Amino acid sequence: MEVTTHGNSGFPRLGQPAPLFEAQTTQGTIRLEDFKGSWLILFSHPADFTPVCTTEFVAFSEMAPEFKKRNVELCGLSIDSTYSHIAWVRNIEKNFGIKVPFPVIADLNKDVASLYGMIMPGESKTETSRCVFVIDPNGILRAMIYYPLTTGRNMQEILRLIDALQMTDKNGVATPANWKPGEKVIIPPPATTEAAEERMKAGFETKDWYFSKKAV
Ligand code: BEZ
Repeated sequence: MEVTTHGNSGFPRLGQPAPLFEAQTTQGTIRLEDFKGSWLILFSHPADFTPVCTTEFVAFSEMAPEFKKRNVELCGLSIDSTYSHIAWVRNIEKNFGIKVPFPVIADLNKDVASLYGMIMPGESKTETSRCVFVIDPNGILRAMIYYPLTTGRNMQEILRLIDALQMTDKNGVATPANWKPGEKVIIPPPATTEAAEERMKAGFETKDWYFSKKAV
């Protein structure tokens, strides 16, 4: 398998190019570059045919249309074979009536898992933890979330993270704690005393020179 770390040593870092990979999936061979122009959520799960992972695959599949509306593709991964993945997604369709619409990487050699630091030996040496990597249309790693083996992820939070990143890119703003689309956003703080003076007169909703919000 072809992998490159763009000269990054160790684990992936926010704001840097995501490590390139080519991998076998339930939908054929994929390369990270195939997703150029789209956002990508690359996520790992510990193992096929396990209950928490099954709830997550159902939840990711149900949320897929919302991600699609936002130009976000999904790609799963675990250290299982393609045959296991195929059997599991068929089993999910049979038992839950949900078709899994995204590819799932069969990372039997742990190539992609090692590249992205998805294995947490303190939890398991043979399974990937519940990792989420958000990669933007230019291939830059924008967010990482790590959950333990025993806790299923929250799709609303992952969708909220995408909305927040896209809001930031479109409007050059930041988003406060618990922000949801439609709510006011944060204007990045001024970096000079002069800009701080200006900010107080700028007509935003300003608590103090460093704390301004506005509607978008
Ligand atoms: C699960 O998906 O149910 C699971 C996987 C690994 C450890 C614990 C739970």
